[in-house]
Amino acid sequence: MSIRIHNQEFSPFLDEAKILIEVKNLGQRITKDFEGEELLVIGVLNGASIFMADLCRAIDLPLSTSFIKVKSYVGTESSGKIRSILGLEEDIAGKNILIVEDIVDTGITMKYLISEISNLNPAKISIATLLFKPEAFQFNYALDYVGFEIPNKFVVGYGLDYDGLGRNLPSIYQLSVSQLII
Ligand code: IMP
Ligand code: MG
Repeated sequence: MSIRIHNQEFSPFLDEAKILIEVKNLGQRITKDFEGEELLVIGVLNGASIFMADLCRAIDLPLSTSFIKVKSYVGTESSGKIRSILGLEEDIAGKNILIVEDIVDTGITMKYLISEISNLNPAKISIATLLFKPEAFQFNYALDYVGFEIPNKFVVGYGLDYDGLGRNLPSIYQLSVSQLII
């Protein structure tokens, strides 16, 4: 059934069960890839909070968690402007870092995070993103753990918002019309 948020219509796209199966798969892959090691999992607020909570519980490794905040998006169009990272207080030198994002769209946010975090000399940086829009991606760096590749359409739910609303939806919905004028 479709839903309305801020007067826009969204249709069901990925249901809760399907998302949770994929999150478990990602967790198992990460567990295998980092066997015998420790991880510092860094979630990108606000969007990654829900995915991060489920993903961490699907990883069977000694891990610690942290959250950072960056903002690159206004409404449904990427502003392309990056603000600074907030919240990274611990010493990450020599650690295995897993950056957790809800979605990689143009890739500008993740590119910025990789370069800022690299400057802090971690042992390794890996990336987990629940969603990836290959048609919008402007770079060619590797994304290590991708839940779903999706078309270049705006989505909400499971942590993703449309102007602040929709993060609490257990499933993911896609904007019903192709162009949104805000
Ligand atoms: P990028 O820098 O263009 O890759 O955008 C990344 C950020 O934009 C994500 O962390 C999201 O917060 C936001 N974003 C991109 N696409 C969507 C979408 O379809 N729905 C909601 N937020 C999105
Ligand atoms: Mg985000």
